[in-house]
Amino acid sequence: MIQTIKETIPYVDLAAEHVSIKDELLEAVKRVIEHGQFILGPEVEAFEKAFAQICGTNYAVGVNSGTDALILALKALGIGTGDEVITVPNSFIATTAAICLTGAQPKFVDVNEQGLMDPSLLEAQVNEKTKALLPVHLSGLPCDMNRIKAFCKKHKLFLIEDAAQAILAEYQGQRVGSFGDIGCFSLHPLKTLNACGDGGVLTFNNPELYEKILMLRNLGLKNRDQAILWSSNSRLDTMQAAILLVKLRYLAEWTEKRREHALAYNQSLNGIEGLKLPQEDPSCLGVYHTYVVRAARRDALQEYLEKQGIGSKIHYPIPIHLQEAAKDLGYKRGDFPVCEREAQNILSLPIYPDLKEEQREQICAAIREFYGEV
Ligand SMILES: Cc1ncc(COP(=O)(O)O)c(C=O)c1O
Repeated sequence: MIQTIKETIPYVDLAAEHVSIKDELLEAVKRVIEHGQFILGPEVEAFEKAFAQICGTNYAVGVNSGTDALILALKALGIGTGDEVITVPNSFIATTAAICLTGAQPKFVDVNEQGLMDPSLLEAQVNEKTKALLPVHLSGLPCDMNRIKAFCKKHKLFLIEDAAQAILAEYQGQRVGSFGDIGCFSLHPLKTLNACGDGGVLTFNNPELYEKILMLRNLGLKNRDQAILWSSNSRLDTMQAAILLVKLRYLAEWTEKRREHALAYNQSLNGIEGLKLPQEDPSCLGVYHTYVVRAARRDALQEYLEKQGIGSKIHYPIPIHLQEAAKDLGYKRGDFPVCEREAQNILSLPIYPDLKEEQREQICAAIREFYGEV
């Protein structure tokens, strides 16, 4: 009997992802080395223009990480000590860290079944100290922006979108990062548009914010010699901007491939007892930075997949309110039941443009096998 050899499928393979565009990337890097404007060179501005255009905002400012994008967004809106910012406990740690680093206090609300901010819980958290709302478009699925915007308007709160995982995602035909006062994106190597290193970007429409954010990312400097405020060095490297400009040309195609994989996973895994699939609101367009299933016996499933050479990850296994860093925020286990339950069930399956159809089928077959559905 001929046995088919099963392929090892990593959760992600960043080196492989770059093979087909390597020459273009090297050419872009070469141009930067030749012109020598390594700090805030022409590629940074060109990237910012292009990024603002894809988000549908007047401005985009490149910074050195998604974390700094969040910190600078909060600072640009004057948020700091004595203020409160409402966010969710199931995000990458950076969302809450950014709030704490400004001196403000994070206030959490629980999430819905898709892991997104539950707007019905917001009213109970708002008080006279609340200054802003910081929802997270987790996995690349947009939050309920109509309700979130209405809530911000009612209580006169700033709206900052953590769109780190959601470049090109749409809510009712509008791109995320364009709904609130400021959108914050990460260009980390694991993101859907990724630098070859760290990077981030802020998007917004207000011209006054533009001047301020330019200074905030560059030591508070108004020009070479005059500093207007205290700030740090958060600039996006010219080299990374050059790399990102190359990748931007492929972003729509890569995003479409991610969506194709997600829809194919949905079809292939539909109906398995013990497995819940991501639900995309029909008025939204998700970009599937991650493809997250809710799985009964999740740890056993992950182990089963691993034994077959299939990588998977958990985004995120420890809710932020239960992190050691959060011990002074006053929360305890049980405060956010949906988020805490999700942390036990969620599993992110491989999803990237280069994932082959056969590999995806192999993953689905292994999952069906695990649940005894063969
Ligand atoms: C939801 C979310 N917010 C913020 C960040 C922080 O971005 P960075 O790693 O670029 O600092 C990330 C990514 O890592 C993220 O996934």
